[in-house]
Amino acid sequence: MAALEQLTAYEEDAVRAIAAASDAAAIELVRIEFLGKKRGRLKDLQALLGQVSAEDRPVLGKRFNDVKSRVEQACADRQTALSKPARSIAGIDVTLPGSPLRLGRIHPLTQTIDEFREIMGQLGFTSADGPEIEDEFHNFEALNIPQDHPARDPLENFYLAAAAAAHGPRLLRSQTSTVQIRVMEQRPPPVRIVSIGRVYRPDDVDATHSCMFHQMEGLMVDRHVTMADLKTVLRLFATAYLGADVHVRFRPSFFPFTEPSVEVDMRWQDRWLELGGAGMVDPNVLRAVGYDPDEVTGFAFGLGVERFCMRRHGVDDIRRFYENDVRFLRQF
Ligand code: PHE
Repeated sequence: MAALEQLTAYEEDAVRAIAAASDAAAIELVRIEFLGKKRGRLKDLQALLGQVSAEDRPVLGKRFNDVKSRVEQACADRQTALSKPARSIAGIDVTLPGSPLRLGRIHPLTQTIDEFREIMGQLGFTSADGPEIEDEFHNFEALNIPQDHPARDPLENFYLAAAAAAHGPRLLRSQTSTVQIRVMEQRPPPVRIVSIGRVYRPDDVDATHSCMFHQMEGLMVDRHVTMADLKTVLRLFATAYLGADVHVRFRPSFFPFTEPSVEVDMRWQDRWLELGGAGMVDPNVLRAVGYDPDEVTGFAFGLGVERFCMRRHGVDDIRRFYENDVRFLRQF
């Protein structure tokens, strides 16, 4: 049957032309030639259908529809393929995925500090700051640490030779208690602050010692502040940070700027964890900043930040925090 052969020839021609079309414009021309509604070759074939006998018509009609839908599909597939951007430009496969960007993270110590501020903020303590390069008045004298005290030994501190000539003795602060003085010098009581920052001591560096570490200093001065307030604040703080039912223990101690003075430990996961030092602000300190110790009392504490962070995350060596090894830092 001539009509059937024509259909076969049409399909073969169309398939060849579709494969040969190499860009979007070419495939459009092929589409118009083979499938165009007005003058396409399909129209001529359709005219043939009208001429065949009623007997042959169903067979031919089915064949016509099959061929038509196959050519339409092939044409559409080719159009889709040709409309994709080129894979390769100047020899580079532009469809390859890029190298994933590795997002930075907040350093675990900074995360800890932020959380400390947040917790203490909820207890009504605002954040205060002081300089890391200090004079002897703020680091020692105002804190009731006399000239002959061993803590003032130059071998126990980082004195700055360069600053001395121009400004008198200067050192990297050995404790954040300096900020107690700076805050009280500037405002009258009541005071309720924390100050979190770096301190420097020429310790031999090992798994638990670094010549630079962080402390959180707390200071609360008001009428009728007692050691019960100190204990409550420290227990609330410890509970908020470690999320457990922690016990706070005071052991008698000595600091020149607090009286009485205590070492503070915290019971957590069946161990005593040393938090730092604390006590009631010594009347001499209050007097040095112009406060009246008969009017107000206060407590102060100084806690090691690294220690908390190490305990919470199971970090066994303080040096990890300062080495900037991303394999370590990426875990937080
Ligand atoms: N400044 C003390 C230290 O660094 C800690 C401390 C702070 C003790 C406040 C008492 C009151 O060891």
